[in-house]
Amino acid sequence: MNDSKMSAWLNSLMACQACDLRHEGNLGPVRFSGDASSPLMFVGEGPGGVEDEYGVPLVGPSGKLLDKALWSVGLTRDHIYVTNIVKCRPKNNRTPTLEEGKRCANIHLVKEIELVQPKVIVCLGKVAFQYFYGRTASIMHNRGKWFEYEGIPVMPTYHPAFLLRQTGHELVESKWQVYYDFKAAAEKAKEAMPDFTFKSPEKPDLLATYAELQKSRHIQQ
Ligand code: URA
Repeated sequence: MNDSKMSAWLNSLMACQACDLRHEGNLGPVRFSGDASSPLMFVGEGPGGVEDEYGVPLVGPSGKLLDKALWSVGLTRDHIYVTNIVKCRPKNNRTPTLEEGKRCANIHLVKEIELVQPKVIVCLGKVAFQYFYGRTASIMHNRGKWFEYEGIPVMPTYHPAFLLRQTGHELVESKWQVYYDFKAAAEKAKEAMPDFTFKSPEKPDLLATYAELQKSRHIQQ
């Protein structure tokens, strides 16, 4: 990963006015979290309230569950790259349309993939999976299977927000499915880069890590 190219892309992301999502009452584009030299990239849907506030993806309730699931397979957030299909928070946390996803990700996510060159991509939920494979791509039928994007293995799995809506037996079953999907993704990334450090001794406190970024978002308003 080239630092100067990454910061040039970050500058262009922050200045982005390419679509109307920027004007849906949010604090502006949300960047990535974690390590841009990681072989493992997780792609979510789009920022919610906490993410809009902090400027980084998946640091709210879904993010907390993601962190737990990652920890269970030997990964911590500081050693993986996490991003979203759409960078600006849609109003009232509505699900972005496929067209909105395409417009944003064709500008930004493709650039991130080019810069980070991940060895494995995990799609968290339908919005991410359908960006890569089209409107008919079903998470229910395909989670846990390997796909490919420009030579990179891609694994779709459930979004943590889906797990947060489950209860009882369904919840237990989907948690195990996500565990096995994450485990397979972690193993593939470890095979591709055996010397890379994937886990810190403790789970990082992401809200503390990005506290300065949070302040700067409010100053810019
Ligand atoms: N859900 C996502 O997919 N991404 C976020 O950043 C927050 C919630």
